[in-house]
Amino acid sequence: MPDAEIARALHVVAIVLWIGGVGFVTLCLLPYCRAEVPPAVAIATFEAMERRFAALARYLILVGGGSGLWMVSRYQLWERFGAPGFWWMHAMVAVWLIFFVSVFIAEPLFLHRWFSRRAALDPVGTLRAIWYLHLILLTVSVVTAFGAVWGVHG
Ligand code: HEM
Repeated sequence: MPDAEIARALHVVAIVLWIGGVGFVTLCLLPYCRAEVPPAVAIATFEAMERRFAALARYLILVGGGSGLWMVSRYQLWERFGAPGFWWMHAMVAVWLIFFVSVFIAEPLFLHRWFSRRAALDPVGTLRAIWYLHLILLTVSVVTAFGAVWGVHG
């Protein structure tokens, strides 16, 4: 089934770039903004970088989800969603859903406006809150990726 193998390769590449980007934002960009730059400049820097990453992440989320769904269908893995031992399958879908809703629905509808308003009032607190949020998302994503590789090959 070469199409399923291609889907797996696309899946892994999309996940590497996407979660890798979340790692960069969480572990490099946000700590730099919080520690090294005056708050107003930090907010502008973070927003400009995050906007560029979000534009790329949209494609990566679609490729990651599409290729994952393709594999579930081609390998007929649906019954895994009823088995607790395959928690990592549920985790993959949950992580995907969280990012999909954030980037495609919440961000354009209200998240961006909320961020700008809050950042104007309290830039330091907003950067701290955003950093905690990213740290939680990154941790859940990394645990999920670890569980998936362990589940497939372990
Ligand atoms: C709608 C969302 C997703 C679906 C339907 C999905 C589905 C799948 C499927 C069917 C596999 C192959 C399992 C097997 O060969 O037994 C897989 C592998 C994998 N997925 Fe996902 N996935 C999704 C999202 C994610 C996310 C968000 C991550 C990262 C946090 C992720 C990370 C991985 C990893 C690391 C593998 C292992 C690849 C390998 O070593 O062969 N997936 N996924």
